[in-house]
Amino acid sequence: MEQLLTKIKETSTYLLQCLNHPQIGLVLGSGLGDLVEQIREPMTVAYHEIPHFPVTTVEGHSGRLVAGIIEGKKVLAMQGRFHYYEGYSLEEVTFPIRVMRELGIKTLIITNAAGGINACFQPGDIMLITDHINFLGLNPLRGPNHVELGPRFPDMTEAYSPELQAIARQTAARLGMTLREGIYAWVSGPSYETPAEVKLLGLLGADAVGMSTVPEVIVANHGGMQVLGLSCITNVAAGLGHARLDHEDVVATAEKGKGEFQKLISGIIGAL
Ligand code: HPA
Repeated sequence: MEQLLTKIKETSTYLLQCLNHPQIGLVLGSGLGDLVEQIREPMTVAYHEIPHFPVTTVEGHSGRLVAGIIEGKKVLAMQGRFHYYEGYSLEEVTFPIRVMRELGIKTLIITNAAGGINACFQPGDIMLITDHINFLGLNPLRGPNHVELGPRFPDMTEAYSPELQAIARQTAARLGMTLREGIYAWVSGPSYETPAEVKLLGLLGADAVGMSTVPEVIVANHGGMQVLGLSCITNVAAGLGHARLDHEDVVATAEKGKGEFQKLISGIIGAL
């Protein structure tokens, strides 16, 4: 644990040599990484250059931090994230969030690609995450707690900030965009769900399903950060449509929807 604290400090000290203090953290999911093109005065650091950072392995993820300005706000974006299914520990998956907090970031916007379970959702829709279900039952905070990082038993009643949700709704309305809302269920992957699992998740109250986000959101809440979560619904979840699921299609749909996504996120950042 002491080692984790040391690593967080060393990584943030390294990053502060090349980046100025960011205010807003952005985690960009599969196919959504191009949002970094919206960043003015960009400064880029590849993950493999950053001390203690893991490196990404999945297609559709470039694996770099991009800092700069969006709508007058200083942002730090992760282009590519670390997934549990890649073999990383949950400490590794969430390490960048710990570093963001150490850098002084208090607001985190986290995005992902997800399968739609709610029958009203269509591929290309954007879903505001109002809550989540941790279907893995694993928790990144398991183990000794260091009070410098947050409390032993963090409250998760407002894991997704109601204030940020309100800003997202207002921004979508102002831009004339439809914003879906719902509950995101986290599964391990990398296999997609079976139709029976999708049916069960629907019965449990999930509107969308994906392989990321929840560990980062738990750690962000542990550290007292305000979180906004947005899913790009890239496909109808397994068994609910006719097609078999294919990662290439998932990334292609996310890429098709990225223009809308970028508009919404820039608008939200401007309104913060
Ligand atoms: N299931 C899990 N993760 C996903 C999906 C899905 O259908 N689509 C995109 N990420």
